[in-house]
Amino acid sequence: MTGVPTRALNNGVEIPMLGFGVFQIPPDEVVAPVATALEAGYRLIDTAAVYGNEEGVGKALADSGIARDELFVTTKVWNEDQGFDATLRAFDTSLDKLGLDTVDLYLIHWPSPRRGLYVESWKALERIYAEGRARAIGVSNFTVAHLQRLFDETGVVPATNQVELHPELPQDELRAFHDEHGIVTEAWSPIGAGKGLLENPAVVDVATRLGRTPAQAVLRWHVQRGTVVIPKSVTPERIRSNFEVFDFELGEADMAAISGLASGRRLGPDPETATF
Ligand SMILES: NC(=O)c1ccc[n+]([C@@H]2O[C@H](COP(=O)([O-])OP(=O)(O)OC[C@H]3O[C@@H](n4cnc5c(N)ncnc54)[C@H](OP(=O)(O)O)[C@@H]3O)[C@@H](O)[C@H]2O)c1
Repeated sequence: MTGVPTRALNNGVEIPMLGFGVFQIPPDEVVAPVATALEAGYRLIDTAAVYGNEEGVGKALADSGIARDELFVTTKVWNEDQGFDATLRAFDTSLDKLGLDTVDLYLIHWPSPRRGLYVESWKALERIYAEGRARAIGVSNFTVAHLQRLFDETGVVPATNQVELHPELPQDELRAFHDEHGIVTEAWSPIGAGKGLLENPAVVDVATRLGRTPAQAVLRWHVQRGTVVIPKSVTPERIRSNFEVFDFELGEADMAAISGLASGRRLGPDPETATF
């Protein structure tokens, strides 16, 4: 509808390749940026119970008047709500706050291995999916080992794994594993979470040569690698310009220049060692 290409999930549901993330947008400030994003053409909105802003997201969706079947809404179960029954309850709460009957994608936010509950939580997501209350189910911040355990102990392969991914942390091994198993890779902090990536001379150089912003150059790099991206901004001009990444291409040399930034630097917690 808005010219954003989609990728087919493993159950045939189409996910837009570009969405809008709302992490760290306070609940009382989230309506305006989501409204701006929807006006700009974004249809995928990525929130989570722990962001505390599902209600505001729901309000912006309702106010937009956009038909429900044109929207793609993702939310996530928080670590403290892991376990079969608690996850089912958390899902109901999220639906209620969003003011929706279904979500398009429901994710386990973190594996939280110290809790040892993600298999049980996944079984709850399978139930929710079977009931038709989530059009697709997936995970976030899962490593190959966590995914392998789900394959061994449960029935449904996650549709997506949403992980930290940007030029400094390209996650090539994990992406290859996803491709092998039909899991779509989603990138969080795709433009580097305001921590220096967009000022890197290699990025600035590519962007300047193409007459684009550094954020557009990096988002285009992701899209050409087949990754779903969900950049966040509260700045109207950035929200709009981050969406304009489907009318130009990076050549091989530009792709290589941005890929050359791979250093393994993480900007957020490591799922193996996170203690929450
Ligand atoms: N699953 C998970 O565990 C997890 C973890 C983290 C994030 N996420 C999801 O991924 C989304 C995106 O990640 P993120 O918010 O961490 O980082 P991000 O989207 O990579 O970066 C957001 C930062 O970049 C700035 N920015 C946005 N557009 C810009 C532009 N065109 N030029 C310069 N700066 C720009 C924003 O500032 P302003 O807002 O001030 O404009 C903000 O500081 C989140 O919102 C959330 O939905 C998921």
